[in-house]
Amino acid sequence: MKKPLLAALLLSLTSAAYAGSAFTDAKDSITYRQAAFQMIRHNMADISDMLKGDVSYDAARASKRAAALATLTTLPWEAFSVPGAEQGGGDAKAAIWQNLQDFNSRGEKLAADAKALQLAADSGDQAALRKAFGTFARNCKACHDDYKN
Ligand code: HEC
Repeated sequence: MKKPLLAALLLSLTSAAYAGSAFTDAKDSITYRQAAFQMIRHNMADISDMLKGDVSYDAARASKRAAALATLTTLPWEAFSVPGAEQGGGDAKAAIWQNLQDFNSRGEKLAADAKALQLAADSGDQAALRKAFGTFARNCKACHDDYKN
Protein backbone atom coordinates (compact mmCIF):
# COMPACT_ATOMS: atom_id res chain seq x y z
CA MET A 1 0.00 0.00 0.00
CA LYS A 2 1.27 3.44 -0.89
CA LYS A 3 -0.02 5.13 2.22
CA PRO A 4 1.77 8.48 1.87
CA LEU A 5 0.30 8.91 -1.59
CA LEU A 6 -3.21 8.14 -0.39
CA ALA A 7 -2.84 10.53 2.52
CA ALA A 8 -1.59 13.27 0.21
CA LEU A 9 -4.52 12.66 -2.11
CA LEU A 10 -7.06 12.83 0.71
CA LEU A 11 -5.45 15.98 2.01
CA SER A 12 -5.57 17.65 -1.38
CA LEU A 13 -9.22 16.68 -1.76
CA THR A 14 -10.31 17.93 1.63
CA SER A 15 -8.03 20.68 2.86
CA ALA A 16 -8.87 23.32 0.29
CA ALA A 17 -12.61 22.59 0.10
CA TYR A 18 -14.99 25.37 1.10
CA ALA A 19 -17.12 24.23 3.99
CA GLY A 20 -20.61 23.30 2.88
CA SER A 21 -19.86 23.62 -0.82
CA ALA A 22 -18.82 21.35 -3.65
CA PHE A 23 -15.89 23.58 -4.60
CA THR A 24 -12.21 23.59 -3.74
CA ASP A 25 -11.79 27.29 -4.58
CA ALA A 26 -13.33 30.16 -6.55
CA LYS A 27 -11.80 28.92 -9.81
CA ASP A 28 -13.36 25.51 -9.27
CA SER A 29 -16.76 27.16 -8.83
CA ILE A 30 -16.37 28.89 -12.20
CA THR A 31 -15.71 25.54 -13.88
CA TYR A 32 -18.83 24.18 -12.21
CA ARG A 33 -21.20 26.96 -13.21
CA GLN A 34 -19.88 27.08 -16.79
CA ALA A 35 -20.35 23.30 -17.08
CA ALA A 36 -23.92 23.66 -15.80
CA PHE A 37 -24.65 26.39 -18.36
CA GLN A 38 -23.26 24.20 -21.14
CA MET A 39 -25.52 21.31 -20.09
CA ILE A 40 -28.46 23.72 -20.05
CA ARG A 41 -27.58 24.83 -23.58
CA HIS A 42 -27.38 21.25 -24.88
CA ASN A 43 -30.67 20.13 -23.39
CA MET A 44 -32.44 23.29 -24.49
CA ALA A 45 -31.13 22.99 -28.07
CA ASP A 46 -32.72 19.59 -28.60
CA ILE A 47 -36.17 20.86 -27.61
CA SER A 48 -35.62 23.93 -29.79
CA ASP A 49 -34.74 21.73 -32.77
CA MET A 50 -37.96 19.75 -32.28
CA LEU A 51 -40.06 22.90 -32.11
CA LYS A 52 -38.42 24.26 -35.27
CA GLY A 53 -39.01 20.95 -37.02
CA ASP A 54 -35.29 20.38 -37.60
CA VAL A 55 -35.73 17.00 -35.89
CA SER A 56 -39.02 15.22 -35.47
CA TYR A 57 -40.97 15.75 -32.28
CA ASP A 58 -40.47 12.99 -29.74
CA ALA A 59 -42.58 13.47 -26.60
CA ALA A 60 -40.49 11.15 -24.44
CA ARG A 61 -37.26 12.88 -25.42
CA ALA A 62 -38.75 16.33 -24.87
CA SER A 63 -39.80 15.21 -21.38
CA LYS A 64 -36.34 13.89 -20.64
CA ARG A 65 -34.71 17.16 -21.77
CA ALA A 66 -37.16 19.28 -19.80
CA ALA A 67 -36.63 17.16 -16.66
CA ALA A 68 -32.88 17.69 -17.04
CA LEU A 69 -33.43 21.44 -17.44
CA ALA A 70 -35.60 21.53 -14.31
CA THR A 71 -32.61 20.24 -12.33
CA LEU A 72 -29.77 21.90 -14.24
CA THR A 73 -31.26 25.39 -13.90
CA THR A 74 -31.04 25.12 -10.10
CA LEU A 75 -27.28 24.49 -10.21
CA PRO A 76 -25.22 27.50 -11.40
CA TRP A 77 -26.31 30.05 -8.80
CA GLU A 78 -24.54 28.84 -5.65
CA ALA A 79 -21.28 29.04 -7.59
CA PHE A 80 -21.66 32.85 -7.71
CA SER A 81 -21.80 33.12 -3.92
CA VAL A 82 -18.72 31.24 -2.74
CA PRO A 83 -15.98 33.22 -0.96
CA GLY A 84 -13.91 35.09 -3.54
CA ALA A 85 -16.56 34.80 -6.28
CA GLU A 86 -17.07 38.57 -6.27
CA GLN A 87 -13.51 38.97 -7.52
CA GLY A 88 -14.92 37.83 -10.82
CA GLY A 89 -13.68 35.40 -13.37
CA GLY A 90 -15.06 33.67 -16.41
CA ASP A 91 -17.50 35.88 -18.28
CA ALA A 92 -19.30 37.06 -15.18
CA LYS A 93 -19.74 40.84 -14.92
CA ALA A 94 -18.98 42.68 -11.68
CA ALA A 95 -22.61 43.90 -11.77
CA ILE A 96 -23.66 40.47 -10.47
CA TRP A 97 -22.20 41.14 -7.05
CA GLN A 98 -23.59 44.68 -6.96
CA ASN A 99 -27.06 43.24 -7.60
CA LEU A 100 -26.80 39.73 -6.20
CA GLN A 101 -30.42 39.65 -5.07
CA ASP A 102 -31.68 40.55 -8.55
CA PHE A 103 -29.27 38.08 -10.13
CA ASN A 104 -30.35 35.24 -7.84
CA SER A 105 -34.04 35.99 -8.32
CA ARG A 106 -33.53 35.78 -12.10
CA GLY A 107 -31.86 32.42 -11.52
CA GLU A 108 -34.86 31.31 -9.49
CA LYS A 109 -37.21 32.46 -12.24
CA LEU A 110 -35.26 30.43 -14.80
CA ALA A 111 -35.64 27.34 -12.61
CA ALA A 112 -39.37 28.02 -12.07
CA ASP A 113 -39.89 28.43 -15.81
CA ALA A 114 -37.99 25.17 -16.36
CA LYS A 115 -40.44 23.40 -14.03
CA ALA A 116 -43.33 24.81 -16.08
CA LEU A 117 -41.55 23.64 -19.23
CA GLN A 118 -41.28 20.17 -17.73
CA LEU A 119 -45.03 20.09 -17.00
CA ALA A 120 -45.78 21.22 -20.55
CA ALA A 121 -43.41 18.61 -22.01
CA ASP A 122 -44.99 15.87 -19.89
CA SER A 123 -48.46 16.87 -21.13
CA GLY A 124 -47.44 15.92 -24.68
CA ASP A 125 -49.20 19.06 -25.93
CA GLN A 126 -46.86 20.67 -28.48
CA ALA A 127 -48.58 24.06 -28.38
CA ALA A 128 -48.17 24.16 -24.60
CA LEU A 129 -44.54 23.13 -24.98
CA ARG A 130 -43.89 25.91 -27.50
CA LYS A 131 -45.43 28.54 -25.24
CA ALA A 132 -43.52 27.36 -22.14
CA PHE A 133 -40.32 27.16 -24.15
CA GLY A 134 -40.66 30.78 -25.29
CA THR A 135 -41.10 31.95 -21.69
CA PHE A 136 -38.16 29.84 -20.55
CA ALA A 137 -35.84 30.98 -23.34
CA ARG A 138 -36.41 34.70 -22.77
CA ASN A 139 -34.57 34.44 -19.43
CA CYS A 140 -31.25 33.62 -21.07
CA LYS A 141 -30.69 36.73 -23.16
CA ALA A 142 -32.18 39.05 -20.56
CA CYS A 143 -29.70 37.92 -17.94
CA HIS A 144 -26.75 37.69 -20.32
CA ASP A 145 -27.36 41.27 -21.51
CA ASP A 146 -26.99 42.56 -17.96
CA TYR A 147 -24.61 40.14 -16.31
CA LYS A 148 -22.46 38.28 -18.84
CA ASN A 149 -19.54 39.65 -20.87
C1 HEC B 1 -29.56 34.82 -13.99
C2 HEC B 1 -28.63 34.99 -15.06
C3 HEC B 1 -28.50 33.98 -16.17
C4 HEC B 1 -29.51 33.29 -16.79
C5 HEC B 1 -31.01 33.36 -16.52
C6 HEC B 1 -28.87 32.49 -17.78
N1 HEC B 1 -27.52 32.68 -17.78
FE1 HEC B 1 -26.14 31.80 -19.00
N2 HEC B 1 -24.66 32.75 -18.03
C7 HEC B 1 -24.82 33.68 -17.03
C8 HEC B 1 -23.52 34.15 -16.61
C9 HEC B 1 -23.25 35.18 -15.53
C10 HEC B 1 -22.57 33.47 -17.38
C11 HEC B 1 -21.05 33.59 -17.31
C12 HEC B 1 -20.56 32.52 -16.33
C13 HEC B 1 -19.06 32.46 -16.17
O1 HEC B 1 -18.31 32.61 -17.17
O2 HEC B 1 -18.62 32.26 -15.03
C14 HEC B 1 -23.32 32.58 -18.28
C15 HEC B 1 -22.74 31.75 -19.19
C16 HEC B 1 -23.43 30.93 -20.08
C17 HEC B 1 -22.82 30.06 -21.06
C18 HEC B 1 -21.32 29.92 -21.34
C19 HEC B 1 -20.72 28.88 -20.37
C20 HEC B 1 -19.22 28.70 -20.61
O3 HEC B 1 -18.80 27.59 -20.94
O4 HEC B 1 -18.47 29.67 -20.45
C21 HEC B 1 -23.83 29.43 -21.72
C22 HEC B 1 -23.70 28.41 -22.84
C23 HEC B 1 -25.08 29.90 -21.14
N3 HEC B 1 -24.80 30.81 -20.13
C24 HEC B 1 -26.32 29.49 -21.55
C25 HEC B 1 -27.51 29.92 -20.97
C26 HEC B 1 -28.82 29.51 -21.41
C27 HEC B 1 -29.09 28.60 -22.59
C28 HEC B 1 -29.72 30.11 -20.59
C29 HEC B 1 -31.21 30.04 -20.64
C30 HEC B 1 -31.84 28.75 -20.67
C31 HEC B 1 -28.96 30.89 -19.64
N4 HEC B 1 -27.64 30.77 -19.89
C32 HEC B 1 -29.55 31.64 -18.62
C33 HEC B 1 -26.00 34.10 -16.49
C34 HEC B 1 -27.25 33.59 -16.81
